Amino acid sequence: MKGLILSGGRGTRLRPITHTSAKQLVPVANKPVLFYGIEAMARAGIEEVGIIIAPQTGDEIRAAVGDGGRFGVRVTYVVQDEPAGLAHAALTAEPFLGGDSFVMYLGDNLLQGGITDLVGAFREHGPDALILLTPVSDPHNYGVAELRDGRVVRLAEKPPEPATNLALVGVYMFTPAIHEAARAIEPSARGELEITDAIQYLVDAGRRVEPHVVQGWWKDTGRLEDMLEANRLVLDRLEGRLEGELVASSCDGRVVVEAGARLERSTVRGPAVIGAGTRLVDAYVGPYTAIGEDCLIERAEVEHSILLAGSSVSGLEGRMESSLLGRNVSIGRGERQPRAYRFMVGDNSEISIL
Ligand code: G1P
Repeated sequence: MKGLILSGGRGTRLRPITHTSAKQLVPVANKPVLFYGIEAMARAGIEEVGIIIAPQTGDEIRAAVGDGGRFGVRVTYVVQDEPAGLAHAALTAEPFLGGDSFVMYLGDNLLQGGITDLVGAFREHGPDALILLTPVSDPHNYGVAELRDGRVVRLAEKPPEPATNLALVGVYMFTPAIHEAARAIEPSARGELEITDAIQYLVDAGRRVEPHVVQGWWKDTGRLEDMLEANRLVLDRLEGRLEGELVASSCDGRVVVEAGARLERSTVRGPAVIGAGTRLVDAYVGPYTAIGEDCLIERAEVEHSILLAGSSVSGLEGRMESSLLGRNVSIGRGERQPRAYRFMVGDNSEISIL
């Protein structure tokens, strides 16, 4: 069995971060989302992993993942020239997949339980496809499944009036029958070859599509709120480790301070992670915060937030929370007169002032 990770999407809902970086590389608890998927595959015993990349962000993904050796897998990159849908991505990867069955994993998805049990069930029951489902409160934002007597009878992609609250999770298991299905379907209203339609084609053709309701949490990290929640869920299981330097500082609860980080007269209340090379000076970092490498927090309070490498926050009067800062972002109090707000902010940014 092979693995196929889709890492080509544009990430429009996470702009401006995704103007300069692939959404699959945005970190959750200081690790790129994509790495969780690769690790899940390795744990399930999958050795050959194809990663679908887009021409625009592919180089960055290649640089981050390399040949897969450090994850214990062999990675083959497959370029998808245009974002023409998930079924199109599976077709694009056909030369890599050959006649093998495969796990398809959307690179911005996080699945708490991993995929080991699912791969086991797929091998044991031998269906033509296995889909994962989970109840959600906003099914119209996802592919939605209708079941009867434990079998999949109908699937719809983002239906305005969903028949159930069972959303399709972005992890699927397929036999090569999916290629034939992807070739047979037409593009959807959004102009994409939908994997949901390809699976419906299998159902209509009398193939066996096995549903599995996931245990544990699942997150599609496409939006800021989801990203912050994923960060919270992963940090909830963090084990503390203090390797950096603490000067007149304290860490309460489960906190990771990476080697090379330095805390001066600061308090960190976990779960939180402070990346290598980061400095906290007269700062407070509250629960559910992940601070990347080489950041600076000085005379400021940060909570329930994600900061990417090289960012700084200083001299804030109020506590910063529920925020996502990209790389090398700087937020601070200026000394210049007249006292006024001064911004240099990229496209599609969002700022809310106290
Ligand atoms: C895709 C699928 C959808 C699925 C979702 C899971 O949606 O088309 O069926 O429920 O992933 O993350 P997209 O993220 O492309 O909007």
